[in-house]
Amino acid sequence: MPRTHILSTGFRVPDRVVTNDDLASMMDTSDAWIRQRSGIEERRWVEEGEAGSDLGAAAAAMALERAGMKAEDLDCLIVATLSPDHFFPGTGVFLQRKLGIRDIPCLDVRNQCTGFLYGLSIADAWIRTGRYERILLVGTEVHSTGLHRNDFGRDTAVLFGDGAGAVILGPVGPAEGGRGDGNGSAPERGILSVHIHADGRFAEKLWVEAPASKYDPLISHEHIDAGLTCPSMDGREVFRQAVSRMPEAVREALDAEGLSIDEVDMVIAHQANLRICQMVQRALGLSDDRIYNNIQRYGNTTAASLPIALHECVEEGRLRCGDLLCLTAFGSGFTWGSALIRW
Ligand code: UT7
Repeated sequence: MPRTHILSTGFRVPDRVVTNDDLASMMDTSDAWIRQRSGIEERRWVEEGEAGSDLGAAAAAMALERAGMKAEDLDCLIVATLSPDHFFPGTGVFLQRKLGIRDIPCLDVRNQCTGFLYGLSIADAWIRTGRYERILLVGTEVHSTGLHRNDFGRDTAVLFGDGAGAVILGPVGPAEGGRGDGNGSAPERGILSVHIHADGRFAEKLWVEAPASKYDPLISHEHIDAGLTCPSMDGREVFRQAVSRMPEAVREALDAEGLSIDEVDMVIAHQANLRICQMVQRALGLSDDRIYNNIQRYGNTTAASLPIALHECVEEGRLRCGDLLCLTAFGSGFTWGSALIRW
């Protein structure tokens, strides 16, 4: 079976920069509180009418260009998002339309901050088994339109941001180093394994309750007045579990591949909170040059956070061919996971 590899990356964040001081003019918060508790300095918010599929299409166009491919070369599209353009159909079909392509399957993945890893797991399986050859995987989010930008929602409004990241995945053969050099001196490139988890006991610890088909009608003025359309979060519980689940998932991936943390060149953890990332770093005993963070500039972009960080990590030349990269995420569901990739 061939290995799956990330052939290229792309990203797009909205032009509109929203600083902590901007938020402090909308709600009872401060630059000092936000920096100290989360490490976030600014985030991006869309302009009116700019959708997750727009951000995703722009990120995808960049990834296609870097891979030297046209949209017509793709044979499958996977979109991870918790903030779909509409209740249905999924964001995938809108994104497909914006790329000007037709007749390829579009799968929407709804696994929140771990959505990118769930999508990666599916894409990896499809490519290894030969089902599809060129898969576009996009993580895209528009949080700003769903946040309570006032005192009521201040615990979540300061954390989340808008953005999109994209990768193109394909099989990597022996000629590209996909099976090593046959003498054991060059490591095999590509995705080694992806590990995904969920525990629904914690579903309401971080969720948006409505609109909900279990209510009749699925959305009402009462829902809106009660704040059910905005994220509700038990921040301390999310924090507590995130700092143990992500290192656990990294160790699980390493054990599965018979590797040790000393062999990992770079860890990119879901950008939920800089303090969470720093605790993951400490738990794994990583030096500063072996972890990549950019939450300071974008806030928490949930499903988009890993592909945006991966793109910037690549652009900054922090990943070299043959490096061992580990991705990990944790979020609403609760869901969490990891992936090991030989770059
Ligand atoms: O992808 C996963 C997404 N979610 C997360 O990763 C969130 C994980 N959790 C966290 O990051 C942290 O729990 C927060 C950043 C959300 C909060 O930090 P904390 O140190 O756990 O603060 P706290 O919830 O214990 O709140 C401390 C105080 C409270 O006031 P009192 O009760 O002590 O008077 C809050 O009301 O801070 C208050 N507070 C704020 N103050 C200023 C809550 N939000 C704000 C705010 N600005 N935006």
